[in-house]
Amino acid sequence: MFARFRRKRINPVLRDLLQETHLSVNDFIYPLFAKSGTGIKKEIESMPGVFQMSIDEIVKECDTLKALGIKSIILFGIPDLKDSVGSDAMCEHGIMAQTVRAVKEAHPDMFVTTDLCFCEYTDHGHCGVMDPVLETVDNDITLDNLAKQAVVHAKAGVDMIAPSGMMDGMITAIRAGLDTAGFENIPIMSYSTKFSSAYYGPFRDVAESSPGKGDRKSYQMNPANRNEAILESVEDEKEGADILMVKPALAYLDIVRDVKNNTSLPLAVYNVSGEYSMLKMAARAGVIDYNAVMMETLMAFKRAGADIIITYHAKEAALLLQK
Ligand code: PBG
Ligand code: ZN
Repeated sequence: MFARFRRKRINPVLRDLLQETHLSVNDFIYPLFAKSGTGIKKEIESMPGVFQMSIDEIVKECDTLKALGIKSIILFGIPDLKDSVGSDAMCEHGIMAQTVRAVKEAHPDMFVTTDLCFCEYTDHGHCGVMDPVLETVDNDITLDNLAKQAVVHAKAGVDMIAPSGMMDGMITAIRAGLDTAGFENIPIMSYSTKFSSAYYGPFRDVAESSPGKGDRKSYQMNPANRNEAILESVEDEKEGADILMVKPALAYLDIVRDVKNNTSLPLAVYNVSGEYSMLKMAARAGVIDYNAVMMETLMAFKRAGADIIITYHAKEAALLLQK
């Protein structure tokens, strides 16, 4: 006696009936990068199909997204001026606040999330205010600024806030800041388990956010650590995060499953720039069937336990899912 698994694989209808994991356009959040100016749409060499855009172009892009059924975006800002604390991020006339206002005014039905961090806004490129002695980000001063930044986004009309800086206590601080300002209904999607990863390389081109000196190893996680990865996410749940996240995604599917098994909160993955670019460049070299590899990859995130996928592939995948 042996099991005949193939009995259930012969008829394609039965195969569909038995499919355990499903991918939908509702799973996607699409990242967009805002810059000041008008009529600007500048493709990033290392990320074909990804652009820095002026606000008017982002507003137009939302029409394209909605036509594809994509109803959710995450915004990143590239300010004109950077300084030691990242003032533009805390200013109601800063690039992020302006972009959120413009998008929500033109597209009230678009669900707008903002990435909440300082690395795009500081002249040193680190994710907060520097401690000159330790030569790393000063955690607690940065917490106050994160809360200020969150309130600026909220006043501009954002739907959800996604803090990505891996500061300890960031969810407590941001939740308190939002609640005090009367924004208790704005959810927080925490980049709760974020590794210090070389897969962010191309993103730092598009977001102009490479640290000038040093790296992010004193705040982002060591890719070798599994127990700590779970603790990080569980802590953000305790602090009141509404949605957790594992980032990057592809090389960390074991962590996605571990976190999923340790929380009842919804879980997002960030299918990061390096993962996207690898597929693009492999396709360019003619060595993979791009669409098939992309869909297999996105499905794997769902199977591993992701409820939400933040991905630069969202438009291409949405088109394939319509067929
Ligand atoms: C900012 C931030 C980063 C990413 C999202 N938010 C970069 C970093 O931490 O250096 C990475 C996204 C990607 O690689 O696509 N804190
Ligand atoms: Zn950052």
